[in-house]
Amino acid sequence: MFVLGHQGRSPSAAASFVQQIGERVLVVARMSRQSQHHSLVFFHGREVSSFCPMDTTPAYPTLRIVSHPLVQHKVSLLRARTTPTKIFKELVDEIATLIAYEATSELPLEAAPVETPLERTTGMRVSGKKLTLVPILRAGLGMVEGVARLVPSARVGHIGLYRDHDTLEPVDYYFKVPGDAAERDFFLLDPMLATGGSAAAAVASLKRAGATRIRFLCLVAAPEGVRRLAEAHPDVVVYCAALDRELNAQGYILPGLGDAGDRLFGTR
Ligand code: PRP
Ligand code: URA
Repeated sequence: MFVLGHQGRSPSAAASFVQQIGERVLVVARMSRQSQHHSLVFFHGREVSSFCPMDTTPAYPTLRIVSHPLVQHKVSLLRARTTPTKIFKELVDEIATLIAYEATSELPLEAAPVETPLERTTGMRVSGKKLTLVPILRAGLGMVEGVARLVPSARVGHIGLYRDHDTLEPVDYYFKVPGDAAERDFFLLDPMLATGGSAAAAVASLKRAGATRIRFLCLVAAPEGVRRLAEAHPDVVVYCAALDRELNAQGYILPGLGDAGDRLFGTR
């Protein structure tokens, strides 16, 4: 067995290196926080296993895939046609919490004094951030409680958009966010990033209202949507549980999970 240090290079670079060398190789890659791949990655034989909380891929620089095993397990349950509405809702809620855990991992901290029952000490707190959750109606509503569980003092705005069935372009019908948008960190919520039209329009509306710091949290993304959002708004990082294969002719994500709004609310 060879043990190879593989400092500071991306997991994908290591994977091709392992393939070139052969079977019995263990590579431990320790990535720095400055690089986008802050993780320990283990390649053993031809298998790849990872304790990476978030995967990145060079083809989609704005995308973070939350690869935690619990997230991946729950997404598969979500995809299943037989999963009933009640369970579907619970899964969306749980996955939203787990994605939010990663999407908040870079919030800045500051030292803060704390009085324990025994003495005074210095703890840490998230520094002066005004967090705002913005679900895109309707399906984004299913993610609000799950994210708010981690940031209960966050304000909640709403953006109403639906996708025209023929053109697949978004039609907007509602917009309400806190007035001090320029001072806030926004978490835009929608389970599906398909063509990217809805997400790009929602981000544009938030920016018109003064927002400058926006993250997009979804469950399933299509390559087309990630690309369109990145072209229109390269400053917006997308957190998702899965990057799927493609869109079908009707603009549905494949393999996907179907119509998220209908499955959440039991319509159709
Ligand atoms: C779904 C989904 C997104 C949008 C994604 O909403 O919740 O908002 O489609 O598609 P896009 O990336 O191609 O824009 P839908 O338009 O079905 O509205 P609904 O939530 O009211 O059902
Ligand atoms: N909206 C959904 O709800 N599902 C898709 O697959 C695409 C858009």
